[in-house]
Amino acid sequence: MQDPPVVAVVGATGAAGGTLLRVLEDRIFPIGDFRAFASARGAGTLVRFRDHDVVVAEVDEAGLDGADIVFFAAGAATSRRFAPVVARRGGVAVDKSSAYRMDPEVPLVVPEVNAAALTGHQGIVANPNCVTIPLTVVLAPLHARYGLRHVTVATYQAASGGGRALAAELASQERDDAYGRPPRREVYPHVLHGNVVPGGWPMVGDDTEEESKVIAEVRRVLDLAALPIAVTTVRVPVAVGHSAAVWIEFDQPIAADDARQLLDDSPGVLVVDDPATQQYPTPRAVAGSDEVHVGRIRADVSRENALALFLSADNLRKGAATNAVQVAELLLERPL
Ligand SMILES: NC(=O)c1ccc[n+]([C@@H]2O[C@H](COP(=O)([O-])OP(=O)(O)OC[C@H]3O[C@@H](n4cnc5c(N)ncnc54)[C@H](OP(=O)(O)O)[C@@H]3O)[C@@H](O)[C@H]2O)c1
Repeated sequence: MQDPPVVAVVGATGAAGGTLLRVLEDRIFPIGDFRAFASARGAGTLVRFRDHDVVVAEVDEAGLDGADIVFFAAGAATSRRFAPVVARRGGVAVDKSSAYRMDPEVPLVVPEVNAAALTGHQGIVANPNCVTIPLTVVLAPLHARYGLRHVTVATYQAASGGGRALAAELASQERDDAYGRPPRREVYPHVLHGNVVPGGWPMVGDDTEEESKVIAEVRRVLDLAALPIAVTTVRVPVAVGHSAAVWIEFDQPIAADDARQLLDDSPGVLVVDDPATQQYPTPRAVAGSDEVHVGRIRADVSRENALALFLSADNLRKGAATNAVQVAELLLERPL
């Protein structure tokens, strides 16, 4: 690996890839040479990076030659095609897609939770999805102290989690509604503006694909293969910021104040929890930040040893780009 490394972003014109550029800038990630890729559609687009206009190229094997760290945010098919090329040539693919998340040969990493899983990687590192990341950041310290017995999750997921097309569709529906026009709908099965939609993902049996991903990925990241976890994923008309209401049953008795203190001391978590003064996590407040905001921490009085809480995280930053850049920072600290 060159020092500083040659870095590439595949999917640089997209919602997650565009945020990767901002996070690489914000965290002053060391970069020798920088390359931006997309499909033939986005080739020729200019993206702004470190005060320069960078021309986006169509991704191909030649373009990835000599790249040390390649961030993939262009969907699973593109990762499957090009991440092994990067790995074979001695670089590392840091993948935001779902392609390798359940591959036992590929670590699935949330740096605050299981950084040790990176050891022995073989040139591809997977990142969990944008709900799993904040959920595991919050569940891991609670599990370490009190032992998870059962987790129930209901999500409130932003339009940008569905990519730039759904984010743009929500924005245009807001304008349509404001001007009294019928809201147009092209990329999503329902009008999202003014709505709450418990679907829109492909189905896997009776679960949405998102629900089955979150269940499998949470178990893998926490290394709790049999964790009982129930998830309902819901899309809400919010631009950026995924939230979740979470109910957790523990092996040990747990007091809300102790949980609050433990989470306050945990990496990547910001406790925002004074409901009497209207302080709790909201997607609007968390957008643009790298922490997971947690609040409404209270006893779930319907069960023994149980808590309820609410969390929000920026799906494009900690849910995607920030986690990937943190992984890359760990890779630089450790020799390949
Ligand atoms: N959005 C989130 O909150 C989020 C969070 C976690 C993970 N992710 C993951 O990140 C990936 C991208 O999602 P997104 O939300 O950023 O989607 P998006 O806004 O639709 O962007 C997709 C990006 O991928 C590029 N692309 C599409 N097909 C390609 C191909 N065949 N070859 C090369 N580039 C291609 C697009 O380039 P063109 O300009 O050429 O179309 C664009 O840059 C997905 O795997 C998603 O699961 C997203």
